[in-house]
Amino acid sequence: MSENRIKWFREARFGMFIHWGLYAILARAEWVMYLERIPRDEYAKLAEKFKPDKFDADEWVEMAKRAGMKYMVLTTRHHDGFSLFDSKHSDFTSAKTAAKRDLVAEYVDACRRAGMRIGFYYSLLDWRWDAYWKGPKGDPEGWARFLEYVHGQVEELCTNYGKIDILWYDGAWPYSAEDWRSEELNAKVRKLQPEILINNRSGVPGDFETPEQHIPWWRPPARPWETCITMNDSWGYFEADRNWKTPKQLIEVLVTCVSLGGNLLLNVGPRADGTFPPEAVEILSEIGKWMRAHGESIYGAGPCPFTTTVGRVTAKANKAYVHAFRWPGKEICVAGVGNTVCSAYILSTGEEVRVVQEGDRVFLKGLPRLAPDPYDTVIVMELDDEPKGVPYTPR
Ligand code: GLC
Repeated sequence: MSENRIKWFREARFGMFIHWGLYAILARAEWVMYLERIPRDEYAKLAEKFKPDKFDADEWVEMAKRAGMKYMVLTTRHHDGFSLFDSKHSDFTSAKTAAKRDLVAEYVDACRRAGMRIGFYYSLLDWRWDAYWKGPKGDPEGWARFLEYVHGQVEELCTNYGKIDILWYDGAWPYSAEDWRSEELNAKVRKLQPEILINNRSGVPGDFETPEQHIPWWRPPARPWETCITMNDSWGYFEADRNWKTPKQLIEVLVTCVSLGGNLLLNVGPRADGTFPPEAVEILSEIGKWMRAHGESIYGAGPCPFTTTVGRVTAKANKAYVHAFRWPGKEICVAGVGNTVCSAYILSTGEEVRVVQEGDRVFLKGLPRLAPDPYDTVIVMELDDEPKGVPYTPR
């Protein structure tokens, strides 16, 4: 894996996940067909109702951009088998049913217009195929036809839409990479899209890891990684799910991911008409405000070996960014600093901060009584060199 190919991804740090499909009509998230055991034919009728009149891909991309996101990943087909793109391998698509639109094409065009990196989520499994349930051993011929469909669709996605930046597989369970012929599929993908990044969910390692709904606190992966999380408790639109996280919580998640060397892929579940839920719009706009003032501490930034009680520390070149999630007022202590701190200031205001250094302990003094930022105030420490940590020796 060439470092070059993944460089943009490591620097981007923040992307938008979108779970959208027929399930948005039922408004009980993307597993509704399975969890409520809706018969295939009944579920398929939703396609005749799916006319996302208010879907405007430029608007989606604009919202992602204003939130500070650098890439997007859209569910081109989820486990329910409904493709948001035109496909020779399926009639169960948005292009051949009521919507009569290749929604993936619209999304791609909008991303490209805005300079947004483009990702495709694709579920290997498809609940509508008997062969999926019977498996390669139970129904070898059916499985072969099923794989033709899956491989065929992935090839379409990698052929018909120009340059794609990310292929985000899902749903390989319970089968192996051999069963899916993942090596072979990925070889085809890389031939068609030499620069593409492939995630780790097809049974082979791919280019990056994808922890889900949690921060890998304990030993973050050594390889590139991206945590995906929901804004409430659902990926697909779920009308009754009111359990929204706050902008503050989500900013803390993003900062924490960066401080551990990873990315955050934050999910939105649009409604059936193609609009984002108002709560999601509000959250994105709040995050965007924070990002405009503090993006420097996120993009291209990574872990810093220093420690503090008030939040997390990120770093880039000769700067350490102390993220105060909790504002003590007066004074903040940063420890384990093996550098000389030349100066410090509040990132959003430029206000100078007094530095007193005692060995590896740095005291940032004379801070405003109230937090300058309600979510996360960032204090920049300018160092004599790249951050060097000092191992902890009890004394
Ligand atoms: C899980 C779920 C799926 C969701 C995905 C996101 O694998 O099956 O619904 O798309 O996680 O990471």
